[in-house]
Amino acid sequence: MQVPLVDLHAEYAMLRGEILDALDGVFTGMHLYLGPETEALEAEWAAFCGVDHAVAVATGTDALLLGMLAGGVRPGDEVISVGWTFIATLEAIVHAGAIPVVVDVDPDTLTMDPSLLAAAITPRTRAIVPVHIYGHPAAMTPIMDLAAEHDLFVLEDAAQAHGASYHGAMSGSLGHAGAFSFYVTKNLSAYGEGGMVTTNDADLVEKLRMLRNHGRSATGHEIVGYNGRMQEVQAAIVRLKLKRFVEWQARRRSIAARYNEALAGLPLCLPFEAEDCRHAYHLYMVRPADRERLKAGLEEAGVAYAVHYPLPANRQPAMAPWGLNDVVLPVSDRAAEEVLALPIHPMLTDDQIGHVIDTVHRTLS
Ligand SMILES: Cc1ncc(COP(=O)(O)O)c(C=O)c1O
Repeated sequence: MQVPLVDLHAEYAMLRGEILDALDGVFTGMHLYLGPETEALEAEWAAFCGVDHAVAVATGTDALLLGMLAGGVRPGDEVISVGWTFIATLEAIVHAGAIPVVVDVDPDTLTMDPSLLAAAITPRTRAIVPVHIYGHPAAMTPIMDLAAEHDLFVLEDAAQAHGASYHGAMSGSLGHAGAFSFYVTKNLSAYGEGGMVTTNDADLVEKLRMLRNHGRSATGHEIVGYNGRMQEVQAAIVRLKLKRFVEWQARRRSIAARYNEALAGLPLCLPFEAEDCRHAYHLYMVRPADRERLKAGLEEAGVAYAVHYPLPANRQPAMAPWGLNDVVLPVSDRAAEEVLALPIHPMLTDDQIGHVIDTVHRTLS
């Protein structure tokens, strides 16, 4: 039996008729970007996240970049994020012309450790970008408190956290703005690329709408912007999947619960869910005592796995010019040696889940 990390074939088989109809609708209307599908998705995603506005963009990276620019990040500003993230978080800071500053993460959730933030704030700090890694929300209350004290803009990197919640509020509604990705492997995904910025701030919305479309306003090209437009075909596909999203998230959580129960007691750390938080389980990340052994067992049994990330983003060669390669973040550095993601997606069959569990047991017992 083969168990893939994501199964887009199974998903397409289920949605094929509806997707082809939706694509036909887009091509018949020939409104190919920022049209009715995009507008409807913006309204639906804003409602889902419990915010007033959502602005659709081309990618999650654009959501981060344009979110920061709209939030007032300017060249030379410092933006504090984490090393334990996908490189796009730090790339977006650099593309905004800002200087990335990284802090370490909490050992349980692997999200920004708020107790390290105060020491990282300088007079040049303009924004904080916490990352809801793997789908677990960052500790937003202390982060927002500190941001308020220092008048800093907070942009959630919610690229992996569709449907997560923190103290009853949805990801994307916790900071001044939230950035989502609809990349193909994400919990809610396009068949290609897509992204979204969520916010309650109407001023931000106006700027974002200009920034994503070459700075265009009703009167002309008011500012220098970007081509960050969402494509209608992608918006139509994301909307179709959004109809199933609550059900799919429930399935992810039930798979996580099954893994949690079945794998307890083995020599591996299971994913942590902080009190009053809802994990979106984008990834089911374990930390085995012997990762090489688990990798070999999974490979032999046809179970796909992933190591996110083999290196903290700050240690990637691309970050050398910002002096980040030598920043020692002990929790992140240790995580890079320990983490391993097991398959978790709504299309997994009960037999596949059983096969993953049996394989981990056989390998580690
Ligand atoms: C944490 C994080 N931030 C940002 C991104 C960037 O999103 P995209 O690939 O849609 O540009 C991703 C995903 O790729 C991500 O996992």
